[in-house]
Amino acid sequence: MFSKNTYNQRRQQLKNDLYSGLLLFLGNDETGMNYADNVYHFRQDSTFLYYFGLDQPNLTALVDLDEGKSIIFGDELSVEYIVWMGPQPTIAQQAAEVGVLTTLPAKELSNYLEKNKNRPIHYLPPYRAKHSIKLHQLLDIPLDKVAENASAELIQSVVKQRSIKTAEEIVEMEKAVNVTGQMHTTAMKMARSGMIEAELAGAVEGIAVGSGGNLAYPVIMTVNGQTLHNHYHGNTLEEGQLVLGDYGAETTMHYAGDITRTFPVAQKFTSRQKDIYNLVLKAEEDCIAALRPGVLYRDMHLKSAKIILDGLKDLGLTQGNMDDALEAGAYGLFFPHGLGHQIGLDVHDMENLGENYVGYRQGLERSKLFGLKSLRLAKELQAGYVLTVEPGIYFIPELIDLWRAEGRYKEFINYDKVETYKDFSGVRIEDNVLITETGYRVLGNPIPKTVEEVEELRNAQGGTM
Ligand code: GLY
Ligand code: MN
Repeated sequence: MFSKNTYNQRRQQLKNDLYSGLLLFLGNDETGMNYADNVYHFRQDSTFLYYFGLDQPNLTALVDLDEGKSIIFGDELSVEYIVWMGPQPTIAQQAAEVGVLTTLPAKELSNYLEKNKNRPIHYLPPYRAKHSIKLHQLLDIPLDKVAENASAELIQSVVKQRSIKTAEEIVEMEKAVNVTGQMHTTAMKMARSGMIEAELAGAVEGIAVGSGGNLAYPVIMTVNGQTLHNHYHGNTLEEGQLVLGDYGAETTMHYAGDITRTFPVAQKFTSRQKDIYNLVLKAEEDCIAALRPGVLYRDMHLKSAKIILDGLKDLGLTQGNMDDALEAGAYGLFFPHGLGHQIGLDVHDMENLGENYVGYRQGLERSKLFGLKSLRLAKELQAGYVLTVEPGIYFIPELIDLWRAEGRYKEFINYDKVETYKDFSGVRIEDNVLITETGYRVLGNPIPKTVEEVEELRNAQGGTM
């Protein structure tokens, strides 16, 4: 964890923003996978980690703004638990490490809230059913009203603070990217025609876990990169295919990396693969080069879409006026997701607090256009933001068939040519970038990205011909 000073300062910022009332933060609990004692990997809630640092289940925290104190509620481990799971420092000892001097048994929480029920009690939107039920019981709010009664003021304060990464957080994020880089270079070196995707997926997961952390999200390792969040790992790698790998390590402090690379199963890209790959690379690199405080990230999304449309026109896949095609949203056929999102303790940072708080603002509403509506971050960038830049080009047979049948954007899309790419799959390239006072910094050691760098890695290890 960070020093207690960090956590004290973070909680002080909440007081500066909200002045008065109680702030209730629910830590996560263990959840049974197939029976209560066989649990999913435990992951603490990120906002709980941010303000209280304690990485264990069954804790709740309260900040009493008027009393000027924080309290952690939780029960000490019984000796029966210690017999099975081993000893732990007491909750009071752990709380002191993060500057919290008052701890109480879990059952005292409801008494505390009951005594203070006439004061404002702020909480964040729950994303686990157990938390919804707990809030319903503790605060006597109907279950179906729990989410809508979450505190907009608290959400805004947390988002404002967590969006600006401090130097000590950047150190962690850079560690996450560097482990993620090792995962990618390992996959690029070991992939062979005849392997199952799962062999690569398992190898990269092993590196994340072996670093002492974990995966930040489930591995995407697929020869069907056109399926955006493809978690199936049962295909056999074949000559001529591309492998799209999108995965990231989470550090022991739970900061995430989120990197995507695409490489050929063969030693070299085919010329058709190279054309599409270089177009995605140009979109990624040109957008990164334009990053600085004040830039509207939606403009970066549109910039990448325009690069993609123009490049596809050179390849005969699009036609007509590409400014008009951009305006109309024709790029959604090839680039149906957003250019990127904030990243931090969550891979899609703070998404549980509401994407519109994290990526939009009043006066900048989410588009309804296919493709653009999936943009998670649209607003002006600020120094201290860390975000992903991840353009892609995909040939999704089902979408091509549908749009062609509807005649959608037929003035801009050369469907006859697009048909010939239906077996192409997809290319995405993604890096994690810090916005600095004057521009940007790509986090971590460089991970091979140009065609030459990727082919060199494939060749160095004798990838298949
Ligand atoms: N890494 C997956 C995503 O950003 O959605
Ligand atoms: Mn991403």
